[in-house]
Amino acid sequence: RKAISDKITQIVRNSNVYYELEAPIKRSNGKPVLQWSVKGNNSSEEEVFKVLKAVSSLKYDPDLVQEIRPIEGSGKTPSKVEFHLREETYVKSLLNQSDNEIPVERSHQHMVFEYSSPNIAKPFHVGHLRSTIIGNVLANIHQQLGYQVSKMNYLGDWGTQFGLLQVGVELLQATDERIQNAPIETLYKAYVMANKEAINDPTIADKAREYFRQLESGNQSPEVIKQWQKYREYTINELQTVYQRLGVAFDIYDWESLYSQKHITAVLQALELKNLLLPEKDGRKVVEVDNRRIPVIKSDGSTLYLTRDIAALLDRWQRFKFEQIFYIVENGQTDHFKALFQTTWRLKEEIDISKLRHVKFGRIHGMSTRKGQAVFLRDLLDEARDRMQEKQAQSPTTKVDVDSNEVADILGVSAVIINDLKQRRQRDYEFSWDKALQMNGDTGVKLQYTHCRLYSLLEQNENIDLNNVDTDPNCLQEPEALDVLNEIAKYPQILWQAKEQLEACILVNYLFGLSNSTSRALKRLPIKTEIDSRKQQHRLLLFKTAKGILKQGMELLGLKPLNQM
Ligand code: ARG
Repeated sequence: RKAISDKITQIVRNSNVYYELEAPIKRSNGKPVLQWSVKGNNSSEEEVFKVLKAVSSLKYDPDLVQEIRPIEGSGKTPSKVEFHLREETYVKSLLNQSDNEIPVERSHQHMVFEYSSPNIAKPFHVGHLRSTIIGNVLANIHQQLGYQVSKMNYLGDWGTQFGLLQVGVELLQATDERIQNAPIETLYKAYVMANKEAINDPTIADKAREYFRQLESGNQSPEVIKQWQKYREYTINELQTVYQRLGVAFDIYDWESLYSQKHITAVLQALELKNLLLPEKDGRKVVEVDNRRIPVIKSDGSTLYLTRDIAALLDRWQRFKFEQIFYIVENGQTDHFKALFQTTWRLKEEIDISKLRHVKFGRIHGMSTRKGQAVFLRDLLDEARDRMQEKQAQSPTTKVDVDSNEVADILGVSAVIINDLKQRRQRDYEFSWDKALQMNGDTGVKLQYTHCRLYSLLEQNENIDLNNVDTDPNCLQEPEALDVLNEIAKYPQILWQAKEQLEACILVNYLFGLSNSTSRALKRLPIKTEIDSRKQQHRLLLFKTAKGILKQGMELLGLKPLNQM
């Protein structure tokens, strides 16, 4: 595929015509065919036909391409060009893992992904869970495709609610030790307590506001500031253990409070200079976006979420000169990101609006644990692990020591991740433990199970030499074998599609397909009882390739592929 597309690119580059691979691979008279459609960007039919001719008359490797068929389209049917491939070369390239590498095109482009981004005072909720796992896979796919990627977590540690948090810590009389031991839970308790007390005691809200004002204006005592940094540090430490379970690692931790004082003043001046800052009667200052007036400065002079986000975006532009930046944040913040992108773009035109992407997602309903409504992510993952352990203990096929927490944890996390990523991200969905943890059907447990089967098959047949197999397509003619080959052939295009649409479900559903066709092939294509040793080799090579792709795909999704369960 790459050999052909590299050639076509030479011709198409200087025209208004573009081309795309139609279907991953189709078979015509049992032979593999790659079909590209050729379309015009406001260009005439003649121009398309000219390109079609030029593409068809290029010289291709005769070992690879047996025949080229240009098909002129008309009206609604697009023009196409079909490449009939030589079966031997095709099968050989699919089964040779080094040929299977994904074509990398624009590796110099820098993509920044900001995801997870929980708040220190408030608990990590399911919205943050979704952001974390969706952001992780999208960043991984870009990385796999050769882009330069930065994975960033932007912690919320600023705003009046943090004044409340501080008051809460005092009310709770939480010691430093207690906070260090269980930062997320303790700080949450403090926050809840302050909110509750504030209902009866109006001085609490005042105190919180004053506290935050001092912090923001830089007049807080060094001890308080130190304490503040400690909360952040403890929280990051605890978060990291959860991220580790989810297969997530960040390159960069930033936080909102980085953007106070100096940055904000610069933003306000720039807005002023471009006449974008409008005063309101009540002393607030606003920007106008889509005829809505959105505040950036409160009447007491303190800044808002949006103001800090503008400062942060300008700063990120300086630091990364990104090609694109992706914010993986729930649907509910759509207006915020509209305002952020439009305002920043007006401030600095080189940060073109096309570089700024809000990757939205819907809600999960009904996600609760035996403890009650899920508040802490850790509880949720623990519950997945415990339920998995119970299932493992009951299952007759379990091969590992069921007391081993690790396997149950990996399975539980796989279930939670796949259950989330298998639908389009903007859809809201209802969470069900039974569905998520199923062994059969489209679940994370199923993917792990297929991976384990392939692993043990390869282990049992280690004695079969897979080096220098002279590929012969006749050894893989059963429909089950052809199915798996087809799935293997689709993989690179699946990654590009998932990247284009920013949809992890494209990869997830592909892996279900790969896993299903592999399971069927495992039943129908035995190795031990096959007497033809060439067939044995080919089958094993086929399963090895399928396993390689399954493993890589699972890892891109944040799963840790198991060898035994
Ligand atoms: N901390 C925010 C929240 O929990 C999400 C931050 C999203 N990112 C951003 N740059 N605004 O709602």
